Amino acid sequence: MLRSKILKKKHTIAIIGLGYVGLPLAIRFIKKKVKVLGIDSDLKKIKMLKEGKSYIRSISNTELKYFKKNKSLVTNNYRFIQKCDVIIICLPTPLKLNNYPDMRYVFNCAKKINKYLNSEKLIILESTVYPGASEDFLKNIKAHKKNIYFSYSPERENPGDRSFSYKKTPKVLGGKTKLCTILANLIYKPIVKKIYVTESLRVAEMSKLLENIYRSVNIALVNEMKIIADKFGINIYEVIKAAATKNFGFVRFNPGPGYGGHCIPIDPIYLSWASKKLGYKAKFIETATNVNNLMPMWIYKKISNYFKASKRKLIKILIFGISYKKNVDDDRESPSYYFMKILKKNKIYFDYYDPYFLKLRKGRNNNFNKSSIEFSKKTVSKYDCSVIMTDHDNFNYKKILNFSKLIFDCRGKFNQLNIKSNKIIDC
Ligand SMILES: NC(=O)c1ccc[n+]([C@@H]2O[C@H](COP(=O)([O-])OP(=O)(O)OC[C@H]3O[C@@H](n4cnc5c(N)ncnc54)[C@H](O)[C@@H]3O)[C@@H](O)[C@H]2O)c1
Repeated sequence: MLRSKILKKKHTIAIIGLGYVGLPLAIRFIKKKVKVLGIDSDLKKIKMLKEGKSYIRSISNTELKYFKKNKSLVTNNYRFIQKCDVIIICLPTPLKLNNYPDMRYVFNCAKKINKYLNSEKLIILESTVYPGASEDFLKNIKAHKKNIYFSYSPERENPGDRSFSYKKTPKVLGGKTKLCTILANLIYKPIVKKIYVTESLRVAEMSKLLENIYRSVNIALVNEMKIIADKFGINIYEVIKAAATKNFGFVRFNPGPGYGGHCIPIDPIYLSWASKKLGYKAKFIETATNVNNLMPMWIYKKISNYFKASKRKLIKILIFGISYKKNVDDDRESPSYYFMKILKKNKIYFDYYDPYFLKLRKGRNNNFNKSSIEFSKKTVSKYDCSVIMTDHDNFNYKKILNFSKLIFDCRGKFNQLNIKSNKIIDC
C-alpha cells in the first residue's frame, strides 16, 4: 500500500519541471533521503544536472551532487514515472500572447502521465492555477484509475530570499478526498514544519491567487502613491518610512518601475479571466494590473520631461538591472524589457548592465539582442543618464554615482543607502 510505503520511506517521488520551484523542492526531499526522479523537457538542464552543475544562481553545484551520482534519476522521459509512487508537478503556468492563461503545460502533462498510471500513485499539482483547474486536470486522467490520488499544494518559494524555508512558512494543501490529503500530508511532513489543510482543492487554488493578488494590489497602490507624491514634490520614500512606523494595519510595500516574475503580474490575470467566464469582471484586480503596467511609461515620461525641462539632449540611456527583482537571475515579465520597448519606440539608444544577464535571452517579452556592458567609468559616463531598474546588492552604488552623469533611481536605493547628490532623481 502506498501509505505504508511512504511511512517506511520506500517511496520514489517524480518531480516534473525542474525550474525555480521544482529544483529547490527536489533538493529539499533529497536532503531528507527521499528518492527523487527529476523530469524536465529542457535537455540543456538535464545535461547540467547530470554534470552536477546548477543553472539557478541561488542553488550551488554541491547541492546537486545527487543527480551527478545518480544520472539515471534525471531525464526528459516520462516513461520512468511508472516506477514512481508520487508525482509532483511544478510546470509553468504563463500567459498566451493574447494574455489568456496558458494551461497547456499542465494539461498536456496530465495526458502524458495518464499512460503511466499503472499502479497506486499520488499526484500533487504545485503550479499556480485558477480555481477549478485541478478538476480540469483530472478530466485528462482516466476515471477508472481508482487508485490514483490527487492533491493541490501551491508553492510559496521566494527566489532570491535566502531566509525562505518551510521551517517558518506553512504549506497549504487541499486533497480530492480525505485519503488524498492524508497521503500528501505524509509526503510533505519531512520537509515542512506546518501544513495547513484546506477544505477543498478550490480553496487551496484560490488561496495562492489571493496571496499574489494581495501583492499586486499593494504594489499598485504604492506605485500610484509614488505618482501622486511626485506631483506634490513629496519624497515617497519618506512618506512610506513615516507610515511604516504604524505597528498595526499597515504592511510596507515599495514602489518600483513596475513588477515582474512568473507570478505577481500573471496570477491576477488567471483569476480575472476565470471570474469573467462566470460573469463577473474583476475591477479592482484589473485596475491594479493596469497601474503596475503603466509604470515603465511613467518612468520614461519622467526622464524625458526632465531632459526637456533642463534643455538637455536625451540620446543614450544605460539601464541597470534586467532581473525583475534584486539578486535573482530571473527576467520573466521584467519591467526592464517593457522600458526598453518604450525607448526603442521613441528612438532612444540604450544599453544595460547586469552581472546576472551577460547576454539577454529571448522570451515572451524580449526580443532584444544585447549583451551587458562592462562596468567602468569609461563606459558608464558615455550615457546621458543611468536608470536603476533593479537594485541588485552586488551593484557598487558609490561607483554608479561617481561614473554616471545623472541617475534616475526607480527603486529608492540611494535613499535607502542615505546617499545624497543632486545627480540622483527618484523616479
Ligand atoms: N518562480 C516562483 O517564484 C514561483 C513561486 C511560487 C509558485 N510558482 C509557480 O510554480 C510554477 C512553476 O514556476 P517556475 O518558476 O518553477 O517555472 P520555471 O519555468 O522556472 O520551471 C518550469 C520547468 O518546467 C520545464 N518544462 C516545461 N515544459 C515541460 C514539460 N512538458 N515537461 C517537463 N518539463 C517541462 C521547464 O524546462 C522548466 O525547467 C508556476 O505555476 C508558477 O506560477 C512560481
